[in-house]
Amino acid sequence: MAIVSSKQSPQPDGSKKPSPAKSADRSKPQQTDALLQPETVNEEFASKQDDKLRPQRFDEYIGQRELKEVLDIAIQATKSRQEALDHLLLYGPPGLGKTTISLILAAELGVNCKVTSAPALERPRDIVGLLVNLQPRDILFIDEIHRLSRMTEELLYPAMEDFRLDITIGKGQSARIRSLPLQPFTLVGATTRVGALTSPLRDRFGFVQRLRFYEADELGQIVSRTAEILKATITPDAAEEVARRSRGTPRIANRLLKRVRDYAEVKHSGEITSSIAKEALELFNVDPCGLDWTDRRLLTVMIEQYNGGPVGVDTLAAATGEDSQTIEEVYEPYLMQIGYLNRTPRGRVATPAAWTHLGYQPPDEQMRLIS
Ligand code: ADE
Repeated sequence: MAIVSSKQSPQPDGSKKPSPAKSADRSKPQQTDALLQPETVNEEFASKQDDKLRPQRFDEYIGQRELKEVLDIAIQATKSRQEALDHLLLYGPPGLGKTTISLILAAELGVNCKVTSAPALERPRDIVGLLVNLQPRDILFIDEIHRLSRMTEELLYPAMEDFRLDITIGKGQSARIRSLPLQPFTLVGATTRVGALTSPLRDRFGFVQRLRFYEADELGQIVSRTAEILKATITPDAAEEVARRSRGTPRIANRLLKRVRDYAEVKHSGEITSSIAKEALELFNVDPCGLDWTDRRLLTVMIEQYNGGPVGVDTLAAATGEDSQTIEEVYEPYLMQIGYLNRTPRGRVATPAAWTHLGYQPPDEQMRLIS
């Protein structure tokens, strides 16, 4: 299986990824913001490293049981019919395994996977180049697919539906459309914002599947597996400790593990025990629920300045110096998952559990708003 990557490096204007955490209060350390970001500035290097850690086949892949079941049936059926797999849209918060699943699909189907992202496909000719070079039944993976330009998206409609490219040649009155046949292929689109897709694009996917946050025991298994690959020694309870603080996200679990391994090697003898993991994670400012400095800042601002909310996301962004898209896509999903934040029609509300977690007494009125 060949993996061809044409991912774009992050742009200085933040157009590739949500901009790095900006803090209104710069007096506190923010090491964990980097741990939480979907991609690092050194993305190429990071992703090469991460490739070693990715499971290659579904039987090595931990978690997402229902999704694997759906895909397993589809793989078997399309293989026996010798067809291309239907187009697949994967959505969910960053770091849950959308790229990995696409690469595994290609391996299971015995085809190539070309990896790209919407910001790298700004000009129509970028997508044309990729599409015409696909081999029969190859997978084309487009990350952040909600960010496709309109012209690129329109080229994709006949490509997805009829394996045909309609190219306009010439301009004005002399413009003609030429159709080029394409090999049957599978488009795997990935997005953190399924609602931002246009309906014509969404409707062209045969499967629309959500990736869920991982359970702590699944993340514990992932941490142990990664530790083995990295040749790090970690006790089972230390793996659980790292897993508990990883926000249901394998990418974060693996990053935390690497930082904890550094700490264990530098400050101790190298073996990662539960107490060493706790010490390290405290140093990195990751609390026992996996909240980092920015999570706590968001909740604290909601509680202290807005009496727990409701507060609009843009107001919250202005008050914390964060980017509203980063708040919505990176921070809120996990805070909602653990029951610390609710989205209401009037804005965001910090739940009584969030008040208690941060050491505040929830007001009765807050209880009334939630119940
Ligand atoms: N590494 C990252 N994600 C993984 C997963 N879901 N299963 C096994 N190893 C992983």
